[in-house]
Amino acid sequence: MKALVLSGGAGTRLRPITHTSAKQLVPVANKAVLFYGLESLADAGITEVGMIVGDTAAEIQEAVGDGSTFGLDITYIPQEQPLGLAHAVLIARDWLGDDDFVMYLGDNFIVGGITDLVDEFRGSRPDAQILLTQVPDPRAFGVAELGPDGQVIGLEEKPQQPKSDLALVGVYLFTPAIHDAVRAIEPSWRGELEITHALQHLIDVRADVRSTVIAGYWKDTGNVTDMLEVNRTVLEGLERRIDGEVDEETETVGRVVVEKGARVTGSRIVGPAVIGAGTEVRDSYVGPFTSVAQDCRIVDSEVEYSIVLRDASIEGVARVESSLIGRHVEVTPAPSVPRAHRLVLGDHSKVQIHS
Ligand code: G1P
Repeated sequence: MKALVLSGGAGTRLRPITHTSAKQLVPVANKAVLFYGLESLADAGITEVGMIVGDTAAEIQEAVGDGSTFGLDITYIPQEQPLGLAHAVLIARDWLGDDDFVMYLGDNFIVGGITDLVDEFRGSRPDAQILLTQVPDPRAFGVAELGPDGQVIGLEEKPQQPKSDLALVGVYLFTPAIHDAVRAIEPSWRGELEITHALQHLIDVRADVRSTVIAGYWKDTGNVTDMLEVNRTVLEGLERRIDGEVDEETETVGRVVVEKGARVTGSRIVGPAVIGAGTEVRDSYVGPFTSVAQDCRIVDSEVEYSIVLRDASIEGVARVESSLIGRHVEVTPAPSVPRAHRLVLGDHSKVQIHS
């Protein structure tokens, strides 16, 4: 069994965080979302991975390399334009050959991995198997309608009036039956060859399409609240490890990770929290459910329940909470006179200011 991992696309929903970087590389607990996916493929016993890449190919390739650090053998397959998930299957046809495969969308996060699902599929081998999960607003997803016995009777892509709250999760298990289906469909209103339509085609020709409903799922719907929540879930599983430098004036409580090359002085860190390599934390408080990436500076500040991306600095600020701080961001206090805020914010930013 092979895997086709999709890592193209523009990532408009997490703007401004993904303005300049691939959405699959957005970190959760200081690790790219994509890496969790690759690890779960390796855990499921898959080694051959075809990676579909688009405009952000160089960045993805630099982060993932040949896959050997994950125990995978990765072949890069360029997709010249983002023409849809079914289009990705079309262009990977030769590489896939007649093998069964998992299609894994690189911006999807599945708590607990996919090993059981892959095993189940290998055992029963329906033509296709999809994963579904309940979401509050299904309009941003493919949506499934199930019959009385739980069989899939219909699928729609981003419907205005969803027939259920069951969204298609970005992990699909396919036999080669999918290849005829992706050739049979036409582009959708958004100009893409939708995998949802290819699956509907399989249902129409009475192929065996099964579904499994899962819990513990996240995708970049642009919702920072969701992202902080998935970060919290992953940090819950953290094990304490202090590889960096921590001075005697510092107190670390509970499941705290201080990566090698990080320096923490005169501070209090309450876990679960992770401090990335090369980051300096001085005279500060870092509270639970906080991920601070590499090469950041937190000085004379308080940060809690937040994600701080690399090369950001927070100095003299009490306190930052429930926040997502982008790369190279500087957060500093305003001078007291005049009482004015000076802001440089990317498109689609959201700020809450005390005034
Ligand atoms: C794609 C699929 C959609 C699915 C979603 C899961 O949406 O078209 O059916 O629910 O992935 O991540 P897209 O990311 O292209 O908006």
